[in-house]
Amino acid sequence: MTQYDTIALEYQRISATVPLRAAEWYSLHQRLGDLEGCSVLDLACGDGMGTRLFKQWGADRVVGVDISSQMIALAQQREDAEPLGIEYRVADAATLGGIGTFDRVAAAYLLHYAESREQLLRMARTVYDNLQPGQTFVASIANPLQPPRPVVDHRKYGWSYRLLDETLREGANLRGTLYLGATVVEFDFFWWSWDTYEEAFRAAGFSECRIEPFLVPPDPDGKRGSGFWDEYLAAPSAMHVICRK
Ligand SMILES: C[S@@+](CC[C@H](N)C(=O)[O-])C[C@H]1O[C@@H](n2cnc3c(N)ncnc32)[C@H](O)[C@@H]1O
Repeated sequence: MTQYDTIALEYQRISATVPLRAAEWYSLHQRLGDLEGCSVLDLACGDGMGTRLFKQWGADRVVGVDISSQMIALAQQREDAEPLGIEYRVADAATLGGIGTFDRVAAAYLLHYAESREQLLRMARTVYDNLQPGQTFVASIANPLQPPRPVVDHRKYGWSYRLLDETLREGANLRGTLYLGATVVEFDFFWWSWDTYEEAFRAAGFSECRIEPFLVPPDPDGKRGSGFWDEYLAAPSAMHVICRK
């Protein structure tokens, strides 16, 4: 039983409403580039929000992998109800091995679940082994440049996280909370510095890696209001890692 097996339904319900995700998905689309006819591997695909978007963005073949059988069950339920031809499998991204050569690999909130540097390196190797040379990997992670001391409070954008350990160190325990009004869902993950992430990507073979804030998404109806993203941009709570093989 993984932690997401117990929170799968709540995660699905709340995650879809979190305002930060609008910036995240918009940026992911920009950073993955044109997906027309491409194959995409989504590691830690959860209930399939990303996999379904990749299909809508033109991808030909999409494979979603997650360690939680409950999250994959939700993704598969949606696929059965509204088929897009997405393939799902339950597996640990750290031990998946090569299952193909994909034009893109994405991982929205996988890497900070690595419990050790070794596990992080195994995840980075999985990405590398499944990616076509010259192609791009994009991952969302809690901002490794902005340590929680002891809290990162972005409830305005739908989430926050705090340090559970007394002092911040490599591999420290963090607890994240997603908010939907008074309803919350909580999950635990780990603190790794950007140096540690970079070391893992380089050891896996990536030559080019960078970390960037999410881009501000268009707001044609002015729903968010001007300045909505200022607080996020001043101190991003989550960022994109972009690596090229
Ligand atoms: C915050 S959710 C993100 C789900 C989805 N990517 C999204 O953006 O909505 C984190 C996901 O990572 C998965 N996960 C954690 N560790 C994993 C691992 N070692 N291998 C594969 N999936 C993992 C969890 O089961 C969970 O579904």
